[in-house]
Amino acid sequence: MNSYDLDTYLVFRRKQINGALVMMLDSAANSSRISKAMKYSLMADGKRLRPILCLAATEAVGGKSENTLRAACALEMIHTYSLIHDDLPAMDNDDLRRGRPTCHLAFNEATAILAGDGLLTLAFQILSTNNFTNENQASKWLRVLHHIASAAGYEGMIEGQMRDIASEGIQLEIEALEKMHALKTGALIEASIHTGAVLGDGSQKQIERLRIYAKNIGLAFQVVDDILDVEGDPAVMGKGVGTDQTRKKNTYPALMGIKESRAFAQKLVNNALQALNYFDNKSDPLRAIAQYIIERER
Ligand code: IPE
Ligand code: IPE
Ligand code: MG
Ligand code: MG
Ligand code: MG
Repeated sequence: MNSYDLDTYLVFRRKQINGALVMMLDSAANSSRISKAMKYSLMADGKRLRPILCLAATEAVGGKSENTLRAACALEMIHTYSLIHDDLPAMDNDDLRRGRPTCHLAFNEATAILAGDGLLTLAFQILSTNNFTNENQASKWLRVLHHIASAAGYEGMIEGQMRDIASEGIQLEIEALEKMHALKTGALIEASIHTGAVLGDGSQKQIERLRIYAKNIGLAFQVVDDILDVEGDPAVMGKGVGTDQTRKKNTYPALMGIKESRAFAQKLVNNALQALNYFDNKSDPLRAIAQYIIERER
C-alpha cells in the first residue's frame, strides 16, 4: 500500500474537479457580484476531499468515474457553502479560509450569506439536471439526491453545526462529542462516498462496506481537524489556528489531549481499512486516502 502514489492521484483528481467546477460555474453564473463571491470561495485552494472520495468510491466498486463527476462537483459546492457560513461572524467568526480572507471579509456579510445560499442551491440544480438516458439512471440520481439532501440538512450537517455552536463553553461528554462530529463533518463525507458507490452501480454489500469505511474516516477527519487547530501551521493550512480554544469549542484535543486524539484517529483509520479488505486494488486510492487523513498537515 505504501507504494501507491497518492500524491499523483490527488493532483490528477483535483485538476479534473477544478476544471469541471469552473465549467459549471461559468455556464450557471455570470459576472454578477454574487457569481464573483461564489467563485471566490469555490475556486480557492481547497483539498477537494469530498469530490475525490466520491470519484474514488465509484472506482472502488468498478464503475466509471466520468459518470460521477457532476455529483462530485455538487458535493464540493455544498461543502464550500458550509465553510462560507461556518466562517461568518455569527458562527466561528474566522478571517482566513483556503489561504484567502474569508468571503464575508472579501465581500461583506450579506454577500457571503447569499454566496453560500447560491452554492447550496446550485448543487441541487446540478444534481437534478435531467440528461438521463433511461429510467434506471434517473431513479439512481434521485436516490442519491435524496441521500445528499438529508446528510447536508437539519438531520445531518446542519444539526452538527447547531450542536457545535450551542455547546460552545459547555463541556460535552465523549459520546455527545462523537455524535456532533459525525453529524457536522461525517455526514457529508459519508454521503460523498455513498454517492460514488451508488452511481458506480456498487452492490449492496459494497455500499454497506463503504458506509463503514466512510463513517470511520469521516470522524477521523474531524478529529484531525481539531488536532490541526492546536498544532497546525496556518501558512500550510490556509486557515487560522487556536480558534477552537478561543471560542471554547468542544474538540477531541480539549477533551482527551493530543496524544489520545491521535491514537483515536489512528484506530478509526484502521477500522476503515479493515472495511476495505473485501475490495480489490481498485480501492487503493481509498486505502491511501484513509492514511492521508491522519498524516495530512492541511
Ligand atoms: C474543513 O474542511 C471543514 C471541516 C469539515 C473540518 P476541509 O479541511 O476539507 O477544507 P477544504 O475543503 O480543504 O478547504
Ligand atoms: C466545520 O467545522 C464543519 C462544517 C463546515 C460543516 P470547523 O468549524 O471545525 O471547520 P474549520 O476548522 O473552521 O475549517
Ligand atoms: Mg465551525
Ligand atoms: Mg470553523
Ligand atoms: Mg476546525
